[in-house]
This record gives sequence, structure tokens and C-alpha cells, in this order.
Amino acid sequence: MKNSFYAQDKIGTFLSPNKISIGTGAAKQVGIESKALGGKKALIVTDPGVVKAGLIDGIQESLESEKIRTGIFDRVIAEPPARVIDEGAQIAHEEGYDIIIGVGGGSSLDAAKGASIMATNKGRVLDYAGIDMIPKGGLPKILLPTTGGTGSEVTRVFVVTDEAENTKKVVYSNFNLADVAIIDPLLSISMPPAVTADTGIDALVHAIEAYVSVNATPFSDILAIESIGLIAENLPIAYAKGSSIEARYNMVLAANLAGLAFTSGGLGAVHGLAYVLGTEYHMSHGRSNAIMLPHVMDYNTIGNLEKYAQIARAMGEHIQGLCAYKAADKSIDAVKKLLEAVDISIRLPEYGIRKEDLPRLVQGGMKQARLFVPNPRDLTKEDVEKIYKMALI
Ligand SMILES: [Fe+2]
Repeated sequence: MKNSFYAQDKIGTFLSPNKISIGTGAAKQVGIESKALGGKKALIVTDPGVVKAGLIDGIQESLESEKIRTGIFDRVIAEPPARVIDEGAQIAHEEGYDIIIGVGGGSSLDAAKGASIMATNKGRVLDYAGIDMIPKGGLPKILLPTTGGTGSEVTRVFVVTDEAENTKKVVYSNFNLADVAIIDPLLSISMPPAVTADTGIDALVHAIEAYVSVNATPFSDILAIESIGLIAENLPIAYAKGSSIEARYNMVLAANLAGLAFTSGGLGAVHGLAYVLGTEYHMSHGRSNAIMLPHVMDYNTIGNLEKYAQIARAMGEHIQGLCAYKAADKSIDAVKKLLEAVDISIRLPEYGIRKEDLPRLVQGGMKQARLFVPNPRDLTKEDVEKIYKMALI
């Protein structure tokens, strides 16, 4: 790998939780880990689907075997509104909980991060939207993902919905980093195929965007390219045969590596342009990203032909002997094949979004222009329009 891939004129930083454990059955460690952090009363922050799937039982058992009392806050909903996070924090504060255990997909883990912070800081969670606005650390927290997707268990951000303004806000802080992240493929085994596909592609987008970011670092590159290879190889298997522990293991690992990669390298225009599909058309985060991915790649490749060629190679394409343009284009072919394998259409009309929606899409996309900054190719409003038009065919 050429070291000229990295932005050598910038200082690369690597951030991660204090401890990351991975393994089949690793969730059973949660009691021991909580005790080591001084926990005596643990609030499990999750959503009703996770409880219904029976994923909390073993976690509660593990905590109670270490004489840690437990309570469950299971009111998390997708794209958690600020009121849910504030409510969780209030319960943690008033009822004397001293450790937070987040279990679930990105929304539950984000809510757990928010509850941890707001249990010790004054005011409401929306007061702290932005970069490094949180004055002090929250309650200790252990995060256990149940999807192979967001990588939220290792990132320093959480997303919160501001219902009054009908928008999502992001809280960045190193205080959001988990004390311990526990990655157990058994927690992801009951995910239905469509959720496996959407969350798996979200992880792929994290890895690709971090890899081609102008802020990529040696750390993010190594993690991202490994993650891309793992997803290309294992997502079709996890989708086709959900009970495959090996595929599930590799997917939760890949999502974790991608989370670490984008914490260091950042995201880009795929997330930027996908955002409006969630806010205006109520599509899931993973699906929105999946739809925009090949279209943005098509636009982006000339910004970093070499890196897109490496993505193609990591995804199993043969690039030897090809010119730089053709080698880079192979990465788009590989992504399209993967999306087709997991039954994800990249055509907006198939989701009921039509040509007449173009101005609404462009307006929404432009609101996320901050995500164009790390993107390998600059975007104007006309470029954004061009990309949405590709998805509208
Ligand atoms: Fe994402």
C-alpha cells in the first residue's frame, strides 16, 4: 500500500473505547466488566424489540451473578428523540444507577451514550449538540451491539432527533467513548435478512467513506480496507444463512472496524446525501446509505482512483493490468453486485420517490454540506442534483 494514500500534512489520531472484547459468548462478560468498573446498580438501555428477542436475559443474569442490581429502560425508538434520552438519564440519576449498559442497534447504543452523559451533566441533551460541548464525563458505560452495522459501540458520537425542529443533531465528545465495548455475534444471530442487509451495507459505507476521506489516517486505512473485504465476503452469507456464526462474527467485527475507521477518518457525501431519505421519506439509515452508495462512488472515483481500485481489489475484483480508471470503476461494479445479492434496489422510484421530488432531495442534501468536506471530490449544488438524478432513473 502506498503511504501517499494518507493525508501526511495532517495529524492522524486514533480514538477508541478503553477496552474492546470480541468473541462468541462474550456478552457473558458484562457482569465481570461492570464490577471492574465499580458498578453496583446497572441500567440497561435498550428497545422493546431487543427485549422481545430475549437478548437481555443472559445480560441480566451475568450482571446479577456479580451481585449487581439491574433495571431496564426499554423505551428507545429508532432515531431516538431528545425526550427519550432525557427520560433515560432522569431515571438513571433519580434512581441511583451507577453504570449504563447499552444493548441494541445504533439507536439504543446512542441513547445509552446520551443517558450516561445526561445523568451527570445539567440541562437537556440538546444543549450539548455540536462538537465537544459536554463539560464532564458521564456514568461508566458498556455497549453491546446486536447488529453488524453502526459501529456505535466504538464511536465518540451519538445522534439525537430534535422533534421541535424536525431534524437530527449530533453530539460529538470523547466522553461518549465506551469504557468497554463487547462484541458478541450471538446477539446478532436473530436479525432478519433485510435488517442484516441494511445494517451491513451501512457498515460498508462507513468503511468506504473513511477510506477515501481526505482525512484518512494510517489507522483508519488499515481498519477500513480490512472491513471492506470482510463485508464483501460475509454479508451475502449472513443474509442467506442467518444462523452462520462465522458470517455473523465477521460482520460484527467488520462493523466494529468500520466504526473505529470513521471515528478517525470521518464520513462523506454518501451519508450527506442519504440523510434526506431518512428525514423526509422515513427510510432506514442503512437503506438510505445503500441506495446512494454506488451513485456517489460513480461521481467520486476520479478524486482518488488509486483508493477506489484498492476497494475493488478488497472486494474480490481482478484489477491487475487495468488502467487506473477501469480499476477504480470495478469498485462500483463490486458494490452493485453486493447490493443485488442482498436484494437492495438503488433506484429511488422503486421506493416511491419520483423526478418531481428532485428539488426536495437537493434541498435536503445541501443541508448536510458539512459532510462534503472530507469527501474526495468537491460538490456544488449542481453536482448534488446530478447524483440524485442518477438515483431517480
Ligand atoms: Fe451510518
